[in-house]
Amino acid sequence: MPAVSACSLCQHDGMTAREFPPRLRTQHSLSPRTVAVTSGRPTGVGSPLNQPIVLASNFRSSGNYSRDQGTETWVALETAIGDLEGGRAVAFASGMAAAAATIYALAPAVVVVPSVSYMGVRALLSEYETQGQVQLRPVDITNTTAVAEAARGADVVWVETPTNPTLDVADLEAIGHISKEAGAQMVVDSTFATPLLQRPIEHGAAIVIHSGTKFIGGHSDLLIGLCVTADDHVFDRLHKARTLQGATPGALEAFLALRGLRTMPLRLEASQHNAALLVSHLRDHPAIEDVRYPGQGAMVSFVVRGGAAAADAVCDRVLVIVAATSLGGVETTIERRQKYAGDAHVHPGLLRMSVGIEDITDLWADLAAALE
Ligand SMILES: Cc1ncc(COP(=O)(O)O)c(C=O)c1O
Repeated sequence: MPAVSACSLCQHDGMTAREFPPRLRTQHSLSPRTVAVTSGRPTGVGSPLNQPIVLASNFRSSGNYSRDQGTETWVALETAIGDLEGGRAVAFASGMAAAAATIYALAPAVVVVPSVSYMGVRALLSEYETQGQVQLRPVDITNTTAVAEAARGADVVWVETPTNPTLDVADLEAIGHISKEAGAQMVVDSTFATPLLQRPIEHGAAIVIHSGTKFIGGHSDLLIGLCVTADDHVFDRLHKARTLQGATPGALEAFLALRGLRTMPLRLEASQHNAALLVSHLRDHPAIEDVRYPGQGAMVSFVVRGGAAAADAVCDRVLVIVAATSLGGVETTIERRQKYAGDAHVHPGLLRMSVGIEDITDLWADLAAALE
Protein backbone atom coordinates (compact mmCIF):
# COMPACT_ATOMS: atom_id res chain seq x y z
CA MET A 1 0.00 0.00 0.00
CA PRO A 2 1.14 3.59 -0.60
CA ALA A 3 2.41 5.91 2.10
CA VAL A 4 -0.16 7.59 4.34
CA SER A 5 -1.30 10.96 3.04
CA ALA A 6 -2.17 13.92 5.22
CA CYS A 7 -5.87 13.33 4.68
CA SER A 8 -8.22 14.65 7.31
CA LEU A 9 -10.57 11.77 6.56
CA CYS A 10 -8.09 9.54 8.37
CA GLN A 11 -8.00 11.64 11.49
CA HIS A 12 -11.58 11.68 12.66
CA ASP A 13 -12.35 10.54 16.18
CA GLY A 14 -8.72 9.52 16.74
CA MET A 15 -9.27 6.25 14.91
CA THR A 16 -6.47 4.42 13.17
CA ALA A 17 -5.58 5.97 9.83
CA ARG A 18 -5.99 3.85 6.74
CA GLU A 19 -3.77 4.47 3.76
CA PHE A 20 -5.07 6.61 0.92
CA PRO A 21 -3.48 7.52 -2.40
CA PRO A 22 -0.99 10.37 -1.97
CA ARG A 23 -1.08 13.39 -4.27
CA LEU A 24 1.29 13.27 -7.20
CA ARG A 25 4.14 15.72 -6.67
CA THR A 26 6.05 17.01 -9.69
CA GLN A 27 8.45 19.88 -10.37
CA HIS A 28 5.92 21.88 -12.36
CA SER A 29 2.15 22.16 -12.23
CA LEU A 30 0.49 19.58 -14.45
CA SER A 31 -2.10 20.37 -17.07
CA PRO A 32 -5.70 19.41 -16.16
CA ARG A 33 -5.61 16.80 -18.89
CA THR A 34 -2.69 15.10 -17.18
CA VAL A 35 -4.22 15.49 -13.73
CA ALA A 36 -7.42 13.81 -14.94
CA VAL A 37 -5.34 10.79 -15.99
CA THR A 38 -2.79 10.60 -13.18
CA SER A 39 -4.39 11.82 -9.96
CA GLY A 40 -5.82 9.43 -7.39
CA ARG A 41 -3.77 6.40 -8.41
CA PRO A 42 -1.99 4.17 -5.91
CA THR A 43 1.76 4.65 -6.29
CA GLY A 44 3.48 2.00 -4.14
CA VAL A 45 5.66 -0.67 -5.77
CA GLY A 46 3.42 -3.52 -6.86
CA SER A 47 0.22 -1.57 -6.27
CA PRO A 48 -2.56 -1.77 -8.86
CA LEU A 49 -2.76 1.19 -11.27
CA ASN A 50 -6.41 1.71 -10.40
CA GLN A 51 -7.66 2.02 -6.87
CA PRO A 52 -9.69 -1.15 -6.39
CA ILE A 53 -13.38 -1.16 -5.57
CA VAL A 54 -13.50 -1.49 -1.80
CA LEU A 55 -16.69 -3.36 -0.99
CA ALA A 56 -16.57 -3.01 2.77
CA SER A 57 -18.44 -1.02 5.36
CA ASN A 58 -16.47 -2.40 8.27
CA PHE A 59 -12.72 -2.58 8.93
CA ARG A 60 -10.78 -4.83 11.27
CA SER A 61 -9.50 -3.62 14.67
CA SER A 62 -9.60 0.08 13.86
CA GLY A 63 -13.07 1.43 14.63
CA ASN A 64 -13.25 2.44 10.98
CA TYR A 65 -16.66 2.40 9.36
CA SER A 66 -17.00 3.61 5.80
CA ARG A 67 -19.83 6.10 6.47
CA ASP A 68 -17.46 7.90 8.87
CA GLN A 69 -14.00 7.41 7.43
CA GLY A 70 -14.73 6.80 3.75
CA THR A 71 -13.07 4.18 1.63
CA GLU A 72 -10.01 4.19 -0.59
CA THR A 73 -12.27 4.04 -3.66
CA TRP A 74 -14.06 7.24 -2.69
CA VAL A 75 -10.83 8.97 -1.75
CA ALA A 76 -9.19 8.16 -5.09
CA LEU A 77 -12.04 9.99 -6.85
CA GLU A 78 -12.00 12.82 -4.31
CA THR A 79 -8.26 13.26 -4.74
CA ALA A 80 -8.56 13.59 -8.51
CA ILE A 81 -11.51 16.02 -8.43
CA GLY A 82 -9.88 18.01 -5.61
CA ASP A 83 -6.66 18.30 -7.61
CA LEU A 84 -8.54 19.49 -10.70
CA GLU A 85 -10.52 22.13 -8.79
CA GLY A 86 -7.70 23.25 -6.49
CA GLY A 87 -9.29 22.12 -3.24
CA ARG A 88 -10.39 19.03 -1.34
CA ALA A 89 -13.42 17.05 -2.42
CA VAL A 90 -16.07 15.08 -0.57
CA ALA A 91 -18.08 12.57 -2.62
CA PHE A 92 -21.81 12.04 -2.09
CA ALA A 93 -24.51 9.72 -3.36
CA SER A 94 -25.72 12.21 -6.00
CA GLY A 95 -25.48 15.82 -7.08
CA MET A 96 -28.61 16.54 -5.05
CA ALA A 97 -26.96 15.02 -1.96
CA ALA A 98 -23.98 17.32 -2.58
CA ALA A 99 -26.35 20.32 -2.77
CA ALA A 100 -28.09 19.27 0.47
CA ALA A 101 -24.73 18.81 2.20
CA THR A 102 -23.74 22.31 1.07
CA ILE A 103 -26.77 23.80 2.85
CA TYR A 104 -26.00 21.74 5.94
CA ALA A 105 -22.34 22.77 5.87
CA LEU A 106 -22.90 26.51 5.46
CA ALA A 107 -26.19 26.72 7.40
CA PRO A 108 -27.22 30.00 5.71
CA ALA A 109 -30.21 32.11 6.73
CA VAL A 110 -30.39 34.18 3.52
CA VAL A 111 -29.47 32.73 0.12
CA VAL A 112 -29.25 34.52 -3.23
CA VAL A 113 -30.34 32.01 -5.90
CA PRO A 114 -30.53 32.10 -9.68
CA SER A 115 -34.17 32.46 -10.76
CA VAL A 116 -33.53 30.09 -13.69
CA SER A 117 -31.31 27.13 -12.84
CA TYR A 118 -31.54 23.38 -12.20
CA MET A 119 -35.09 22.78 -10.98
CA GLY A 120 -34.10 20.06 -8.49
CA VAL A 121 -31.78 22.34 -6.53
CA ARG A 122 -34.32 25.18 -6.66
CA ALA A 123 -36.98 22.79 -5.35
CA LEU A 124 -34.67 21.73 -2.51
CA LEU A 125 -33.96 25.34 -1.54
CA SER A 126 -37.68 26.17 -1.75
CA GLU A 127 -38.43 23.27 0.62
CA TYR A 128 -36.00 24.74 3.13
CA GLU A 129 -37.67 28.12 2.68
CA THR A 130 -41.14 26.62 3.24
CA GLN A 131 -39.84 25.05 6.43
CA GLY A 132 -38.55 28.46 7.53
CA GLN A 133 -34.93 27.40 7.47
CA VAL A 134 -33.74 29.84 4.79
CA GLN A 135 -34.93 32.95 3.05
CA LEU A 136 -34.36 32.97 -0.72
CA ARG A 137 -33.56 35.97 -2.91
CA PRO A 138 -34.03 34.93 -6.55
CA VAL A 139 -32.04 36.95 -9.10
CA ASP A 140 -31.13 36.87 -12.76
CA ILE A 141 -27.63 35.47 -12.26
CA THR A 142 -26.40 37.17 -15.46
CA ASN A 143 -27.34 40.58 -14.00
CA THR A 144 -24.31 41.30 -11.84
CA THR A 145 -25.79 44.56 -10.51
CA ALA A 146 -28.89 42.71 -9.31
CA VAL A 147 -26.67 40.05 -7.71
CA ALA A 148 -24.71 42.76 -5.89
CA GLU A 149 -27.92 44.27 -4.51
CA ALA A 150 -29.28 40.91 -3.43
CA ALA A 151 -25.97 39.87 -1.86
CA ARG A 152 -26.14 42.65 0.76
CA GLY A 153 -26.91 40.94 4.05
CA ALA A 154 -27.01 37.47 2.46
CA ASP A 155 -25.04 34.52 3.82
CA VAL A 156 -24.67 32.57 0.59
CA VAL A 157 -24.67 33.55 -3.08
CA TRP A 158 -25.61 30.39 -4.96
CA VAL A 159 -24.40 30.45 -8.54
CA GLU A 160 -25.01 27.93 -11.26
CA THR A 161 -23.08 28.60 -14.44
CA PRO A 162 -23.79 27.79 -17.19
CA THR A 163 -27.35 27.30 -16.00
CA ASN A 164 -29.63 24.38 -16.64
CA PRO A 165 -31.52 24.59 -19.01
CA THR A 166 -31.08 28.09 -20.49
CA LEU A 167 -27.25 28.12 -20.46
CA ASP A 168 -26.98 31.57 -18.88
CA VAL A 169 -23.44 32.47 -17.92
CA ALA A 170 -22.64 34.28 -14.68
CA ASP A 171 -19.62 36.54 -14.24
CA LEU A 172 -17.85 34.41 -11.65
CA GLU A 173 -15.02 36.85 -11.10
CA ALA A 174 -17.39 39.75 -10.40
CA ILE A 175 -19.73 37.66 -8.22
CA GLY A 176 -16.70 36.35 -6.31
CA HIS A 177 -15.75 39.96 -5.44
CA ILE A 178 -19.35 40.91 -4.70
CA SER A 179 -19.78 37.96 -2.33
CA LYS A 180 -16.55 38.73 -0.53
CA GLU A 181 -17.48 42.38 -0.06
CA ALA A 182 -20.94 41.38 1.20
CA GLY A 183 -19.43 38.85 3.61
CA ALA A 184 -21.35 36.06 1.86
CA GLN A 185 -20.01 32.69 0.79
CA MET A 186 -20.17 31.90 -2.91
CA VAL A 187 -21.36 28.42 -3.90
CA VAL A 188 -20.94 27.40 -7.55
CA ASP A 189 -22.73 24.51 -9.20
CA SER A 190 -20.21 23.86 -11.94
CA THR A 191 -21.81 20.70 -13.34
CA PHE A 192 -22.20 22.02 -16.90
CA ALA A 193 -18.69 23.51 -17.02
CA THR A 194 -16.98 20.41 -15.53
CA PRO A 195 -13.71 20.88 -13.61
CA LEU A 196 -12.01 21.49 -16.97
CA LEU A 197 -13.74 24.66 -18.16
CA GLN A 198 -13.84 26.75 -14.97
CA ARG A 199 -12.21 26.71 -11.52
CA PRO A 200 -14.56 28.62 -9.22
CA ILE A 201 -12.29 28.30 -6.16
CA GLU A 202 -9.91 30.71 -7.95
CA HIS A 203 -12.76 33.23 -7.85
CA GLY A 204 -13.32 32.70 -4.15
CA ALA A 205 -15.99 29.97 -4.17
CA ALA A 206 -16.42 28.41 -0.72
CA ILE A 207 -17.90 25.26 -2.29
CA VAL A 208 -17.95 23.95 -5.86
CA ILE A 209 -20.67 21.40 -6.58
CA HIS A 210 -20.68 18.77 -9.31
CA SER A 211 -23.28 16.29 -10.31
CA GLY A 212 -20.70 13.64 -11.22
CA THR A 213 -23.62 11.76 -12.70
CA LYS A 214 -23.15 13.93 -15.79
CA PHE A 215 -19.86 14.73 -17.55
CA ILE A 216 -17.49 13.30 -14.93
CA GLY A 217 -19.05 9.84 -15.09
CA GLY A 218 -19.79 10.45 -18.75
CA HIS A 219 -21.62 7.20 -19.56
CA SER A 220 -25.10 7.61 -18.05
CA ASP A 221 -24.50 4.62 -15.79
CA LEU A 222 -24.17 6.06 -12.29
CA LEU A 223 -25.30 8.67 -9.77
CA ILE A 224 -22.68 10.55 -7.76
CA GLY A 225 -22.09 14.08 -6.45
CA LEU A 226 -19.09 16.04 -5.27
CA CYS A 227 -18.41 19.13 -3.21
CA VAL A 228 -14.99 20.75 -3.39
CA THR A 229 -13.60 23.37 -1.03
CA ALA A 230 -10.27 24.97 -0.18
CA ASP A 231 -11.44 25.85 3.34
CA ASP A 232 -10.56 23.31 6.05
CA HIS A 233 -13.52 24.25 8.24
CA VAL A 234 -15.96 23.91 5.32
CA PHE A 235 -14.34 20.58 4.42
CA ASP A 236 -14.97 19.31 7.94
CA ARG A 237 -18.59 20.47 7.77
CA LEU A 238 -19.12 18.73 4.43
CA HIS A 239 -17.58 15.59 5.80
CA LYS A 240 -19.83 15.82 8.82
CA ALA A 241 -22.85 16.28 6.53
CA ARG A 242 -22.03 13.02 4.81
CA THR A 243 -21.46 11.19 8.08
CA LEU A 244 -24.66 12.44 9.70
CA GLN A 245 -27.00 12.54 6.70
CA GLY A 246 -25.55 9.31 5.34
CA ALA A 247 -25.70 10.20 1.64
CA THR A 248 -22.61 8.16 0.87
CA PRO A 249 -21.50 7.20 -2.64
CA GLY A 250 -21.53 3.57 -3.74
CA ALA A 251 -18.15 1.89 -4.20
CA LEU A 252 -18.86 0.89 -7.80
CA GLU A 253 -20.16 4.39 -8.58
CA ALA A 254 -17.00 6.01 -7.19
CA PHE A 255 -14.84 3.63 -9.21
CA LEU A 256 -16.80 4.26 -12.41
CA ALA A 257 -16.82 8.02 -11.90
CA LEU A 258 -13.03 8.05 -11.61
CA ARG A 259 -12.74 5.79 -14.62
CA GLY A 260 -15.00 8.23 -16.49
CA LEU A 261 -12.89 11.18 -15.37
CA ARG A 262 -9.80 9.66 -17.00
CA THR A 263 -11.30 10.23 -20.46
CA MET A 264 -13.31 13.36 -19.70
CA PRO A 265 -10.83 15.71 -21.45
CA LEU A 266 -11.09 13.67 -24.65
CA ARG A 267 -14.85 13.27 -24.43
CA LEU A 268 -15.36 16.95 -23.75
CA GLU A 269 -13.10 17.90 -26.64
CA ALA A 270 -15.10 15.72 -29.05
CA SER A 271 -18.44 16.92 -27.66
CA GLN A 272 -17.42 20.57 -27.85
CA HIS A 273 -16.31 20.13 -31.44
CA ASN A 274 -19.70 18.60 -32.30
CA ALA A 275 -21.58 21.23 -30.29
CA ALA A 276 -19.89 24.13 -32.10
CA LEU A 277 -20.77 22.65 -35.51
CA LEU A 278 -24.36 21.92 -34.52
CA VAL A 279 -24.71 25.48 -33.21
CA SER A 280 -23.54 26.93 -36.51
CA HIS A 281 -26.04 24.76 -38.44
CA LEU A 282 -28.87 25.56 -36.02
CA ARG A 283 -28.23 29.31 -36.23
CA ASP A 284 -28.80 29.15 -40.00
CA HIS A 285 -31.87 26.92 -39.82
CA PRO A 286 -35.28 28.49 -40.60
CA ALA A 287 -37.10 26.27 -38.06
CA ILE A 288 -35.00 27.66 -35.19
CA GLU A 289 -35.91 30.85 -33.35
CA ASP A 290 -33.03 31.12 -30.88
CA VAL A 291 -29.82 29.22 -30.10
CA ARG A 292 -28.15 29.38 -26.71
CA TYR A 293 -24.53 28.26 -26.44
CA PRO A 294 -21.97 29.67 -24.01
CA GLY A 295 -19.14 29.27 -26.55
CA GLN A 296 -17.69 26.25 -24.82
CA GLY A 297 -18.95 23.03 -23.31
CA ALA A 298 -21.22 20.29 -24.59
CA MET A 299 -24.64 21.76 -23.75
CA VAL A 300 -26.72 23.55 -26.40
CA SER A 301 -30.27 24.83 -25.98
CA PHE A 302 -32.41 26.05 -28.85
CA VAL A 303 -35.96 27.21 -29.41
CA VAL A 304 -37.97 25.56 -32.18
CA ARG A 305 -40.49 27.71 -34.08
CA GLY A 306 -44.00 26.44 -33.43
CA GLY A 307 -43.65 26.04 -29.66
CA ALA A 308 -44.20 22.93 -27.58
CA ALA A 309 -45.83 20.79 -30.28
CA ALA A 310 -43.06 21.44 -32.81
CA ALA A 311 -40.34 20.84 -30.23
CA ASP A 312 -42.00 17.60 -29.05
CA ALA A 313 -42.17 16.46 -32.66
CA VAL A 314 -38.39 16.91 -32.99
CA CYS A 315 -37.84 14.74 -29.88
CA ASP A 316 -40.19 12.10 -31.30
CA ARG A 317 -38.43 11.98 -34.66
CA VAL A 318 -34.72 11.82 -33.78
CA LEU A 319 -33.20 8.38 -34.28
CA VAL A 320 -29.50 8.73 -33.46
CA ILE A 321 -30.05 11.38 -30.80
CA VAL A 322 -31.80 9.98 -27.73
CA ALA A 323 -34.87 11.65 -26.25
CA ALA A 324 -33.92 11.42 -22.56
CA THR A 325 -33.82 13.61 -19.48
CA SER A 326 -30.25 13.41 -18.27
CA LEU A 327 -27.08 14.67 -19.86
CA GLY A 328 -23.31 14.55 -19.95
CA GLY A 329 -22.93 11.09 -21.50
CA VAL A 330 -21.09 9.97 -24.62
CA GLU A 331 -24.49 9.83 -26.35
CA THR A 332 -26.37 12.92 -27.50
CA THR A 333 -29.61 13.46 -25.59
CA ILE A 334 -32.40 15.97 -26.11
CA GLU A 335 -35.36 17.10 -24.04
CA ARG A 336 -38.06 19.77 -24.00
CA ARG A 337 -37.79 21.20 -20.52
CA GLN A 338 -40.85 23.40 -20.14
CA LYS A 339 -43.04 20.28 -19.76
CA TYR A 340 -41.79 20.01 -16.16
CA ALA A 341 -43.54 22.13 -13.54
CA GLY A 342 -40.12 23.17 -12.19
CA ASP A 343 -39.15 24.56 -15.60
CA ALA A 344 -42.58 25.96 -16.50
CA HIS A 345 -41.09 29.45 -16.87
CA VAL A 346 -38.75 28.58 -19.77
CA HIS A 347 -39.80 28.90 -23.43
CA PRO A 348 -42.26 26.11 -24.39
CA GLY A 349 -40.27 25.37 -27.53
CA LEU A 350 -36.87 25.17 -25.82
CA LEU A 351 -34.96 21.95 -26.37
CA ARG A 352 -31.93 21.25 -24.21
CA MET A 353 -29.37 19.08 -25.94
CA SER A 354 -26.37 17.38 -24.39
CA VAL A 355 -24.00 16.81 -27.28
CA GLY A 356 -22.14 13.52 -27.33
CA ILE A 357 -19.19 12.13 -29.23
CA GLU A 358 -20.94 10.51 -32.22
CA ASP A 359 -19.92 11.44 -35.75
CA ILE A 360 -21.05 15.00 -36.45
CA THR A 361 -22.35 14.15 -39.91
CA ASP A 362 -24.72 11.59 -38.42
CA LEU A 363 -25.80 13.94 -35.66
CA TRP A 364 -26.63 16.82 -37.96
CA ALA A 365 -28.37 14.55 -40.50
CA ASP A 366 -30.53 13.20 -37.68
CA LEU A 367 -31.39 16.60 -36.25
CA ALA A 368 -31.94 18.21 -39.66
CA ALA A 369 -34.34 15.40 -40.66
CA ALA A 370 -36.25 15.80 -37.38
CA LEU A 371 -36.50 19.56 -37.95
CA GLU A 372 -37.94 19.19 -41.47
C1 LIG B 1 -26.77 21.65 -12.65
C2 LIG B 1 -27.19 20.44 -11.90
N1 LIG B 1 -26.89 20.35 -10.60
C3 LIG B 1 -27.25 19.28 -9.85
C4 LIG B 1 -27.96 18.23 -10.42
C5 LIG B 1 -28.37 17.07 -9.56
O1 LIG B 1 -27.53 15.98 -9.82
P1 LIG B 1 -27.96 14.45 -9.55
O2 LIG B 1 -28.97 14.10 -10.58
O3 LIG B 1 -26.65 13.72 -9.67
O4 LIG B 1 -28.51 14.39 -8.17
C6 LIG B 1 -28.29 18.29 -11.77
C7 LIG B 1 -29.07 17.19 -12.39
O5 LIG B 1 -29.52 17.29 -13.50
C8 LIG B 1 -27.90 19.41 -12.53
O6 LIG B 1 -28.20 19.53 -13.83
